[in-house]
Amino acid sequence: MKILALETSCDETSAAIVEEGRKVIANIISSQADFHAKYGGVIPEMAARQHLETINFVISEALDQAQYGLDDIDAFAATLGPGLVGALLVGANAAKTLSFMTQKPFLGVNHLYAHVASNYLESDLEPPFLCLLISGGHTQILHVKHYNQIEILGTTLDDAIGEAYDKVARILGLPYPGGPALDKLAQSGNPKAFALPQARTDNPYDFSYSGLKTAVLRLYEKQMASKDPSEDFKTDLAASFQHAATEVLVKKAMAAAKSLGLNQIAIAGGVAANSAVRMKIQHAVHSENGWRFFIPESIYCTDNGAMVAASAYFNPLTTDLAMEVFSRGEQVGNPLNS
Ligand code: KG4
Ligand code: ZN
Repeated sequence: MKILALETSCDETSAAIVEEGRKVIANIISSQADFHAKYGGVIPEMAARQHLETINFVISEALDQAQYGLDDIDAFAATLGPGLVGALLVGANAAKTLSFMTQKPFLGVNHLYAHVASNYLESDLEPPFLCLLISGGHTQILHVKHYNQIEILGTTLDDAIGEAYDKVARILGLPYPGGPALDKLAQSGNPKAFALPQARTDNPYDFSYSGLKTAVLRLYEKQMASKDPSEDFKTDLAASFQHAATEVLVKKAMAAAKSLGLNQIAIAGGVAANSAVRMKIQHAVHSENGWRFFIPESIYCTDNGAMVAASAYFNPLTTDLAMEVFSRGEQVGNPLNS
């Protein structure tokens, strides 16, 4: 089963072809980051127009790279939600048109399922496992019971971790997208230079990042009041933020896995590309006997078509369900397979 899938939920236009949900034949990504950097963030209307300009190009590139024609494809897929509405419609319309032309099925995909499914690419991971979903919009601990049955154990009460990274990067004067730039800066600083707060939450698996972000802002403002912050000050503040932001993620994910008796941990979402998260999760899992960890290649962590194809294969959804946002305590089932 070869699926051609499109991802246009935010600022990456991507088309990919994946076989049996795991083998990536082509994965073409055109990022709009440079375009939106001028404005310091994604402008939804502009994102939709950019997708419209680029979508045919990424589809042809994916087919060329795979050396396939449309006849070789068994089904077409696209992200239906959550995401920027105008942007989503570009990918959904393109995939539905291809499905109509070729009389092959159209499969709708939920963006969050797709991030989880990035762990199936080029791997042998099978549920059950614990997944830490960390992106620009989400920070969740998920119990993936079956391919199509996911329980949300904890979530952020305010900012998502990627959002906190982007906001702190802006405070430090780093260019958009802030997360990767902050990660790079943090690697040469002292993570213990500043003691930053770690929020307590009633539910042990929930997160809160707004206090941490505000603590960074206060320290920065205090420094500004006496003199311009030095490069060393910024680097150490970045490293201390990275330390505080990632320590809590790994601690809570490990605690959740232990309490459920799971010995497989996966990470997903744009922030799964973060160097500290990757190192800490590997380290934590290595110290447990017989545990396995799954970390998608960085290119499959940020938005991409390959993860959409994997999700279309393992958990195709009805349109309504594909548009739903995960919320805590909920079981997300799949009416197509149950
Ligand atoms: O999953 P994604 O591409 O889009 C959403 O679905 O949100 O995640 C984008 C988020 C942004 O906030 C970006 O700054 C963050 O992931 N990000 C990172 C890194 N790479 C991307 N954050 C920290 N460290 C990174 N290396
Ligand atoms: Zn995403």
